[in-house]
Amino acid sequence: MLLERSQELRLLRTAIAEARSGSGRIVIIEGPAGIGKTALLAQARGAASEAGLQVLSARGNELEREFAFGVARQLFEVLVARAEPARQEQLLAGAAGFMRPLLGLDRRRDDRVDERAEGTARPAPDIGFTLSHALYWLTANLAEGEPLMLAIDDAQFADRSSLQCLVYLAARCQELPVLLALTIRNDESTAADELLHALRGTAGATIISPAPLSQEGVAALVRDRLSDQAAVEFCDACGRATGGNPFLLGELLADLVARELPASAVTPELVAQVSPESVRRVVLGRLDRLGAETGALAQAVAVLEHASVREAAELARMDQEAAVAGADQLLSAGILTAEPLTFVHPLLRLAVYEQIPPARRADDHRRAALSVAASGGSPLAVGSHLLRASPSGDQEVVELLMNAASAAHAGGDPDAAIALLRRALAEPPDRPFRGAVLGQLGQMEALAHDPACVEHLSEALAVTEHPATRVAVATALGEVLVWGGGRSLEAYEMLTNVLAASGPELDPRLRATLETLRMATASVDVRLVSKVAEQRQELRALADAAGPFGRGLKIFDACFSAQTEGVEVRWWDRLEEGLDGGRFVAQQTGGSPVVIYAALVLVLSDEVDRAEALLADIRADARARGSIISHLVDLAWGAFLRLRRGELATAAEDAREALELARRIDANWVEIWMVACLCDALREQDELEAASRLIESVPLEDALGTAATLHALLARGRLRAALGDREGAIRDLELAGGNVIVNNPSFLPWRSTLATIVASTDSGRARELAELGLARARELGQNRGIGVALRAHARVVGGDEGLEQLRESVELLRNSPARLELAHSLVELGGALRRAGRRTAAREPLREGLALAQRCGARLLAEAAGQELIVSGARPRRDQLAGPDALTPSERRVAELAAAGMQNREIAQALFVTTKTVGTHLAHIYQKLGLSGQQARERLGERLQPDGSLVGT
Ligand SMILES: Nc1ncnc2c1ncn2[C@@H]1O[C@H](COP(=O)(O)OP(=O)(O)OP(=O)(O)O)[C@@H](O)[C@H]1O
Ligand SMILES: [Mg+2]
Repeated sequence: MLLERSQELRLLRTAIAEARSGSGRIVIIEGPAGIGKTALLAQARGAASEAGLQVLSARGNELEREFAFGVARQLFEVLVARAEPARQEQLLAGAAGFMRPLLGLDRRRDDRVDERAEGTARPAPDIGFTLSHALYWLTANLAEGEPLMLAIDDAQFADRSSLQCLVYLAARCQELPVLLALTIRNDESTAADELLHALRGTAGATIISPAPLSQEGVAALVRDRLSDQAAVEFCDACGRATGGNPFLLGELLADLVARELPASAVTPELVAQVSPESVRRVVLGRLDRLGAETGALAQAVAVLEHASVREAAELARMDQEAAVAGADQLLSAGILTAEPLTFVHPLLRLAVYEQIPPARRADDHRRAALSVAASGGSPLAVGSHLLRASPSGDQEVVELLMNAASAAHAGGDPDAAIALLRRALAEPPDRPFRGAVLGQLGQMEALAHDPACVEHLSEALAVTEHPATRVAVATALGEVLVWGGGRSLEAYEMLTNVLAASGPELDPRLRATLETLRMATASVDVRLVSKVAEQRQELRALADAAGPFGRGLKIFDACFSAQTEGVEVRWWDRLEEGLDGGRFVAQQTGGSPVVIYAALVLVLSDEVDRAEALLADIRADARARGSIISHLVDLAWGAFLRLRRGELATAAEDAREALELARRIDANWVEIWMVACLCDALREQDELEAASRLIESVPLEDALGTAATLHALLARGRLRAALGDREGAIRDLELAGGNVIVNNPSFLPWRSTLATIVASTDSGRARELAELGLARARELGQNRGIGVALRAHARVVGGDEGLEQLRESVELLRNSPARLELAHSLVELGGALRRAGRRTAAREPLREGLALAQRCGARLLAEAAGQELIVSGARPRRDQLAGPDALTPSERRVAELAAAGMQNREIAQALFVTTKTVGTHLAHIYQKLGLSGQQARERLGERLQPDGSLVGT
């Protein structure tokens, strides 16, 4: 029976009742060691079970902190493994299926196995997120139909990856009939403090901090355990000695009982000698009385945390018979519990563990590791012991640690892998192993964004000879330098050296891998970009020789053409070859730099259909692997594509969502792109203040030299011009122009934009800029580029020449997806005609421009067009935009999947949202489409156009 916990139990019962009724709760029981957290959690589990909840439990173990997903496994493994096949399918349906390998179940048939064997597949950097998402859905699947309690004791010792999953779940469990209950010992800090902090900070979390027992509580316990005759002074002395801590008090009383002192000897003076620190000695004293052999057995169990008698005997170097006798003694003394042998309380274990001299303890752990390994135990269990063993230059230990690190990585926990590999490095490894350890360590650190990776990868490169390993290490190092740190010169030089040192006999497949990265590196740096052109012939031959490994080079080559050579080279054929009918994306993931680059180039080249097709492949990859990065790429480039087509409202909404997601998962490279995109959309929508707040909060000057920053500078310059800050606008455009990497006005029309800004003050410069911009645009032959450049040029020269150019601009833009640019040119043409006194002729382009501007949501332009129309003597209708409310992009995504026959849960899984969110969206969708009743869902399909827009009503 627990004393003085009625308040706490009431809170727990409320939480259980709420979870049961469908609104999930998180309860955290925290406090110092021994205060009674586990005891409370046990009561809560009992109460939950009585209330009809399924209860799944796990406990954090000090020794298993580096066990990737250890706690997650404890929670679900047995239940899922024992479920009937049909139930198992149900539990692992949808996104939950990504948990399979973690739970020791066979992977589903996986098309990518072949490519993995072939070596062309790429490890997914976002596996940790995928598993968080999967664990959420496994929980949701389990809780469907039967409410669920997840009880995690000693969460301060839980592994980081499990805690990450729990943070993800906690933020979303309000919508599920789930009670998440954790205990946290909070009197020492741990490596996972920030995750525990995040759990505590979950909205609506109940925090329970059990208080020490009062004088009355202490007295009740003393009288119960010792003697109902115990005097008040005696009880008070016990309370003072233990601070009312139930564990300390219990141990003190157990000691007194064990010593079988006559009642008269148990004086307050005796108890007063007992301080909290000395309770530890009390515990050890109890053990001492059981003899040295038994003590040694207890120490072995303390090292192993849980063990069979045989395992403990082996570690304690005892014979089986003595061990059995010792175990019996420990069981009957209430120090251990059986099967496997474990301490009844972690504090007891700690007292015994700390008593073992450090050097022997380290050696015990080493021996424990070797014996776990020899008996085929999990590599991670072996690794946990080795982390606590002292280095001894043992190469077997190095190998075991590397195996453990691979297991941790495969389980999605690069942090654990890093700890294991650092330990392997300290062993230290002999020369042949050293490069392998450093290489693995550096790659893991790169995944975890740890800057130490640069040094480790560089060193690995210096000591590794095996060609494939060298290429893998160089690739990882190059990617970190370029995409993580803007150090492209360094990366280029390193890759060049590796290629040179490898000599001509290097396997073309490995060479192609390095060359792809080297060229990609050169192409993002203005100082290197000329190198790309120099080598292209040679690289084409290599791409053909390298088979599947040459696909990246082909894509890269095509993208380079798209940016620098204009339309007549038909670069898309080569791109298609490289993408290989979706296979390249499936193998390299939608988050690989080459794929991201290809999709961006398609968007910027106005290749709408090809861009949509590639985004669909990336989306399929996001679904197939539960990859948040692929989801983000789809979202971000989709936003950009909409902006380029002039669909401002949807572009802004998608960009906002992408921006939020990018910030949440630290995908910095997307952030600036989306800031640029959103800023442009907001400005055109006449939300100048919001646009300004957004873009002025990003220090663009710190990130010069990336394409994203150039686009953001263009967006900021246009915004500043719209706000009347000409000086600022000119500075931004000059900065963009000065850092331009490839001169392509269709991608980045900085000259034309700057020309229109300086037209009124410096006509000479304006003319020069406009001419240069137009000439280059004509060279490349893209309609958007020429159309925009013509408009700027017309603005500068005016007169009949200007009018003629505006007409040409309008015609070209009609043959491009750039609707908003067309609207701009129409309005500009109308204005020019009106100024030339041709008011009647002005009305038609103005009307068309106005309608188009309104359809795009370009309020600023629509306003200007309306004014011009009035001046030209026409009366514009108030609002020419009619028809049904358009769906927002999120609604459109939901509607498409629902129309394709997916259930709400499946849609939620695919879009990384909760089922409730999907329900809300669907309600809005039906309302907007005027659908209701049973058939609403079925009729959804009829109302959606293939491109996701609506059939008008
Ligand atoms: N309110 C209580 N009344 C009586 N006994 C209690 C009470 N709370 C805890 N105990 C007893 O005290 C001992 C320690 O409690 P418990 O194991 O729950 O502590 P804890 O806070 O989980 O400690 P740790 O941080 O070491 O895990 C147990 O034997 C438990 O039964
Ligand atoms: Mg406890």
